[in-house]
Amino acid sequence: MTIEETVENPLRVGMRSQRTPEPNTLVIFGASGDLTQRKLVPALYDLSLEGSLPGGFSVVGMARRPKTHSEFRSEMKGAVVQHSRTKPLQPSAWDAFAANIYYCQAEFNDPGGYVQLANMLQKIESETGCHNRLYYLATPPRYYSEIAKQLGEAGLTASDDGWTRIIVEKPFGRDLASAAELNRTLLSVFSEDQIYRIDHYLGKDTVQNILVFRFANGIFEPIWDRRYIDHVQITMAESIGIEGRGGYYERAGVIRDIIQNHALQLLSLAAMEPPATFEPDAVRDEKVKVLRAVRPIPPEDAQESTVRGQYGPGVISGQQVAGYREEDKVAAGSATETYLALRLFIDNWRWAGVPFYIRSGKRLPKRVTEIAIMFRQPPLALFPTTDGSRIEPNVLSITIQPDEGISLKFGSKVPGTGAALSIRPVEMDFRYGTSFGVAAPDAYERLLLDSMLGDATLFTRRDEVEAAWAFVNPITEGWTNPEPPSFPNYEAGTWGPDEADEFIQRDGRKWRRL
Ligand SMILES: NC(=O)c1ccc[n+]([C@@H]2O[C@H](COP(=O)([O-])OP(=O)(O)OC[C@H]3O[C@@H](n4cnc5c(N)ncnc54)[C@H](OP(=O)(O)O)[C@@H]3O)[C@@H](O)[C@H]2O)c1
Repeated sequence: MTIEETVENPLRVGMRSQRTPEPNTLVIFGASGDLTQRKLVPALYDLSLEGSLPGGFSVVGMARRPKTHSEFRSEMKGAVVQHSRTKPLQPSAWDAFAANIYYCQAEFNDPGGYVQLANMLQKIESETGCHNRLYYLATPPRYYSEIAKQLGEAGLTASDDGWTRIIVEKPFGRDLASAAELNRTLLSVFSEDQIYRIDHYLGKDTVQNILVFRFANGIFEPIWDRRYIDHVQITMAESIGIEGRGGYYERAGVIRDIIQNHALQLLSLAAMEPPATFEPDAVRDEKVKVLRAVRPIPPEDAQESTVRGQYGPGVISGQQVAGYREEDKVAAGSATETYLALRLFIDNWRWAGVPFYIRSGKRLPKRVTEIAIMFRQPPLALFPTTDGSRIEPNVLSITIQPDEGISLKFGSKVPGTGAALSIRPVEMDFRYGTSFGVAAPDAYERLLLDSMLGDATLFTRRDEVEAAWAFVNPITEGWTNPEPPSFPNYEAGTWGPDEADEFIQRDGRKWRRL
């Protein structure tokens, strides 16, 4: 083999070349909900516009309020006008798409509703001649098990003449026991390869690009380990508050809302070993190995390995905003964390001794999600600086949102002939917007299409979900005892509590200024 040749993996050849799925019917449970209106139906419309949906594709929405097919269609039209990526609405394209949308009114716990659904599916399928079914649980999580069981009892979990799959939204459980219980219930009526646990972060192009960046380029992987990397910082900052979802957030907190799923997914993509192929299980095997290698934080260490925060009132973008405890459906003395910083280690050969710092919070100064790889200093400080400080280390930052891109920071000589050599950090920058000039598809477009294609690479497997909860569980256990910190401890519009700065400074490091 010459240096120009790369080994073509025979398993990879031809994969995903064909991106049009087989005809199928998508049944959305929770069809009048916020997720359906803001994300699912707009994503389906956008897919249909670009010709990615098959002929013979239908949607059945199920929810509890009575409405006709035509009322449901016009509700969905309003949602598409407001939320679809492609604007303005194209009336003829909408009419063609809407002709195959149906509504099924039922209570989720009423067996009669599933008989009605079965009849509706039979009718649609007798017209289209195809028997592939995709269920989407876009309901409050307390209904996930109920719907799965009812589908099982109604004989709707498999079909002789086609495939049947189920997509489960987040949150997937609220601790290890409830996630394991939900897995058991789902697996009592579906097989693992029918179950698609969604984490919409994985549908983002920028997140998938982590794998492309690492494994389709020859120059980064050789330095992607403990010998060259000092530490890694993962930041998932939001400037918004809880947006009226106090009831949900009080029970979740940032650890369940962001860390257990999205942050640990980013961690596993950034830290995983190269998979042998780009097949779903090969990728997920490597991701789960990372989660299993994360050193547990036992309850007795939870206080010192994490910093919790909760926002008080403050100012964001010139606007006065309320504190968390003043939000609707939040307890006046709430102990729920809206900010979390933690440090973890991955005990394997690649990462031994490299700390990974993760921070996430609400009502921080800006919305930004990034993974920053902080490289070690050169072995010898050859160039003296005027103030005696060390030159800033190289940083590779992968911005997931909103300003999607990758940049590399390095030191450069400041031009001039002065006696003292002056070095300043500069950046090599790649931005999606300027390099490609096209808007990335919404994460839900990608994930809906993949689930219709039977490609589970970007969905979370049972063992991944449980490994993530197994890491989070002892931390939340440790928090209940001793007493929670005195909240609120950071002002809205700031980068979290002072303790978070002290936390990382104790290791001789500092958070990136974003
Ligand atoms: N919203 C988001 O952006 C978002 C993002 C990520 C994940 N998720 C997850 O997605 C799921 C859905 O969230 P959502 O915000 O869309 O919820 P939502 O707005 O509360 O919608 C709930 C839906 O379920 C239906 N429903 C509730 N109880 C029912 C019952 N007993 N029988 C029949 N239908 C019933 C409602 O129908 P009626 O209107 O007829 O009552 C409605 O269509 C949740 O698990 C959430 O965590 C949401």
